[in-house]
Amino acid sequence: MALIKDILRTMDYGPSPESSDHVRAWLLKHEGGFGPFIGGRFTKPRELFDVFNPATGERIARATQGSPADVDAAVAAARKALPKWAATPGEERARVLYALARHVQKRERFLSVLETIDNGKPIRESRDIDLPLVARHFYHHAGWASLIESEFPGTRPVGVCGQVIPWNFPLLMLAWKIAPALAAGCTVVLKPAEYTPLTALAFAEICIEAALPPGVVNIVTGDGETGAALVAHDSVDKIAFTGSTEVGRAIRKATAGTGKKLALELGGKSPFVVFDDADLDSAVEGVVDAIWLNQGQVCCAGSRLLAAEGIADALTSKLRARMARLRVGDPLDKSTDVGAIVAPAQLERIERLMRAGAEEGLEIWRADDALPNRGSFYPPTLVTGAEPASVLMREEIFGPVLVSTTFRTPDEAVALANNTRYGLATSVWTENVNRALEVAARIKAGVVWINSTNLFDAASGFGGYRESGFGREGGREGLIEYRVADAPWGKPNPAKAPALDVLPGLAPADEGATGIDRTAKLYVGGKQARPDSGFSYAVLDPKGREVGLAGLGSRKDIRNAVEAAAKATSWAAAMAHSRAQVLYYVAENLSARADEFAGRLQVTTGASRRAAAAEVDASIRRAFFYAGFADKYDGAVHATRSKFVTLAMNEPWGVMGIVCPDEAPLLAFVSLVMPAIAMGNSVVAVPSARHPLSATDLYSVLDTSDVPAGVVNIVTGEANALAATLAEHDGVDAVWYVGDAAGAARVKAASAGNLKVTWTRSALMDWPGAEGREFLRRATQVKNIWTPYGE
Ligand code: NAI
Repeated sequence: MALIKDILRTMDYGPSPESSDHVRAWLLKHEGGFGPFIGGRFTKPRELFDVFNPATGERIARATQGSPADVDAAVAAARKALPKWAATPGEERARVLYALARHVQKRERFLSVLETIDNGKPIRESRDIDLPLVARHFYHHAGWASLIESEFPGTRPVGVCGQVIPWNFPLLMLAWKIAPALAAGCTVVLKPAEYTPLTALAFAEICIEAALPPGVVNIVTGDGETGAALVAHDSVDKIAFTGSTEVGRAIRKATAGTGKKLALELGGKSPFVVFDDADLDSAVEGVVDAIWLNQGQVCCAGSRLLAAEGIADALTSKLRARMARLRVGDPLDKSTDVGAIVAPAQLERIERLMRAGAEEGLEIWRADDALPNRGSFYPPTLVTGAEPASVLMREEIFGPVLVSTTFRTPDEAVALANNTRYGLATSVWTENVNRALEVAARIKAGVVWINSTNLFDAASGFGGYRESGFGREGGREGLIEYRVADAPWGKPNPAKAPALDVLPGLAPADEGATGIDRTAKLYVGGKQARPDSGFSYAVLDPKGREVGLAGLGSRKDIRNAVEAAAKATSWAAAMAHSRAQVLYYVAENLSARADEFAGRLQVTTGASRRAAAAEVDASIRRAFFYAGFADKYDGAVHATRSKFVTLAMNEPWGVMGIVCPDEAPLLAFVSLVMPAIAMGNSVVAVPSARHPLSATDLYSVLDTSDVPAGVVNIVTGEANALAATLAEHDGVDAVWYVGDAAGAARVKAASAGNLKVTWTRSALMDWPGAEGREFLRRATQVKNIWTPYGE
């Protein structure tokens, strides 16, 4: 007979399979294949593709490859349902969301078994992590539905939403997409991933049971082509996508210039940082959750272990011992830790990357564990001694592979953590709270878990920095993505920017009959600079008379300005109070020269004396407004789990490109630049191309107001060309553009390179009214920091 001490050592509990009879019966019922769910009912199955159980390779169902006609019908159904759903009182929408939550809970066991059979994840995870979070998401957003009018005044539902989700958390991603959309009053067409459509189809049945009005939720199955048809559909107002960065980039390009709102939740290569004072046993359990949850097929998986040199050996040896205890096998077995990889194609991808790692000579270690002899499995793997440039350190493997390296100092840890194009999540392990919070602030990631990992909650925002995408899901910051301002900001601007009158070389100063300094240069790194081209252009008044000359900025000048802006890091690190004082100083100095600025506006724009004085006055008030706000745009503490403080911090983007329109040249410039710098960004601004002189007159105001060099850089020239250069530049983190529709479309398309966030307006805006929190929100991104307390 086995001794208890041996059992405890081997931890061999014997098989403990979860029953799947009820799911098998359901699959049998749908043997003929699933059709798309459109307008509240399942349509006829057609053009079926096979759905497999990754753990066995057996076919378990067939679903329809959604055609453009299916997408069209689904979008039409969502459009038809929209007015009524959007006008339904919040409490009634809340009731429907509560019903969805309850029905999900009622079917929790069924749905978790179905998810496991479809996706390959261990039943322990689908039952204890995915399903409770799905229900929680619907409950949480039921609450929002009844609060939306009072909490988001002046906004309305964005409209019909196209939502494309991946296969790693099929039902959870559905909940993350559908619950906020419905709470906000939107209707949706959702396309599940082709590997894992089944829980979405079961959810469609729940929509019928819960009496969701037909057309509010539509589900069209299919592959990337179906997704692309949904993204391209004219009648969709917003796209929300979770998946690979590559497809996210394609969607960024496809939606540019269409007016569709976009949120992208993409890949990651998240660091898991262990300092020498960390509780190593907890950190080891953290690693297990970080990289072996869902076989590492998690966008925010802690896939890069960065360990302090002093404890690295101890940590890896504990880790190896723990890895030897992980059970890989039948996902339906309740004691399985690591299940199946979703599909043979994904397994091949992992194997390919690992071959590349082996060729680089990396040390690859696995516990000696046999894998099941059918299905797609990959063993938990540890790679040590990786260099930052190793392929396994850079590429998202999306498998159960942990790649590790060491660091000596906290600075080096932060540098290694940030040495990636991604920025989704980070896990930081240390018993020193000061260090934890400092490192959390310095790492560029949308989510930071301190002494914890892979925690999610409906009340907290989730989403990335940099090439991990933009937009948040969850919490207040996620919900706002599904609302838009009630009243558009202005009339569409059909005007095309007129060609500038380019002159070779800069004219000598003070030649004009008006006595105005005729040769405005650029302003880069706190100094006036000649444009690289050596060209200038004539600045004309409305009657076509030359009133001055401005430098014709080019690509090279934008590059110099971005470099200068990137160096101005002390601005973001400064106390908000100090930034406020500088902004007050700008406002005061502008005020002291109000007459001069009004005179300039009169001459260059032809405005009346009164109108010019009013524009200057409004600009001064605006500068004071943002000076006041600099230390008051607070973050939040989300109510997530007990024993956690989840801080939602508003952080600046970093370097922002801001392109200003021709109307209200001074006020528009101040209205756009001030909120950006108030939040700690440094800016490369392109002022009105036709009336640049009010902005170039600001150089001396900035100089005398102690604005540090590089915080505001100004490049004059052809706005749309400079805007495209800014949008293409990888050193720019966000671009605001106000101008014409063609320029806006170009900015969005060009931003796909590093997936920077863009805010474009092609409207003649009401500049006197253009101020408020919306500008501050757009000048920041939210970082959620989960901090545990208690022993
Ligand atoms: P994918 O990005 O191709 O698939 C995600 C979803 O997008 C699926 O529903 C798919 O049908 C759809 N899709 C594909 N092409 C599309 C297009 N052109 N337009 C609209 N929708 C489209 O990801 P895939 O190929 O399944 O996995 C490849 C790699 O992507 C993984 O190894 C992993 O590195 C990464 N990935 C990351 C995810 C994340 O959550 N961050 C999720 C899934 C994959």
